[in-house]
Amino acid sequence: MRIYTTSDLHYDKRDKQTIDVLKRMSYRLLAMGQASDILVINGDLGDSEEEYIECLELFRDFKGVKLITAGNHDIFVHASSTTSSLDRYNRLPEVCASVGFKLLDDGPVILENENAAIVGNMGWYDFSFCKNPKNAGDTNEAMVLHDNETGFKWDLTDEVVVAMMVKKLEDHLDQVKHIPNVTVFLHHWATGELLPGHRFWRPRVADMAYGFWGSQAFGDVISRYKNIKFVFSGHAHIQREVSKDGVTYRSIASLPYLKELVMLLDNELFSILVN
Ligand SMILES: [Fe+2]
Repeated sequence: MRIYTTSDLHYDKRDKQTIDVLKRMSYRLLAMGQASDILVINGDLGDSEEEYIECLELFRDFKGVKLITAGNHDIFVHASSTTSSLDRYNRLPEVCASVGFKLLDDGPVILENENAAIVGNMGWYDFSFCKNPKNAGDTNEAMVLHDNETGFKWDLTDEVVVAMMVKKLEDHLDQVKHIPNVTVFLHHWATGELLPGHRFWRPRVADMAYGFWGSQAFGDVISRYKNIKFVFSGHAHIQREVSKDGVTYRSIASLPYLKELVMLLDNELFSILVN
């Protein structure tokens, strides 16, 4: 069994360069994938449901099991819409199933023949990666616009969303605690251990970005389960890897003109860059 994973595909109808890269990635995956393989797309496929489905369609013919986690962009809504981000989130299992994918936020996948399981969800952020959270501002507003027209919209605070996703993660890990080999996928980061060193950005700029990258609450849950070997994340778009207490945390790279596909085989990671 090989697990292929990628993240932050950001399918955008207006961006031919990105669509061409995604097509090239899908051709390679369709050529490589066997029925025993797993594909996990770790969130942020498209800002609209139409683009989300078009992106998934590229991978519909992958021969193995097709899984996905929600990303923050996948619950964006138009500013004028009466649909909330929670409505979009709750609709995702049905939308994914229509293209042959299972949303991991809906429950874990047990691979009986492999003594393995896959667990995952959107994750979220709570500024726990900031040295000074005041630098990050406050997103606890009814509507946070990504650009002039779309963003996420709900009445939930970031702390409430983190608590929801942490509870989901715990419930799903409890369901597979008898399985020896569990791989976790979270769109947002689970640990600040992945953060780049202090030279990467100036502290204030770093806090503005890092606040939105994830929450240590997920790493705290993961550290309690001894059957987890790998935790994959996206969202920050940078390639980072760190091992702590027997768990390897890996963040997947993504740029408009270059996407990373990571293959996990026999506890080794292989990076395939597609441009
Ligand atoms: Fe994201």
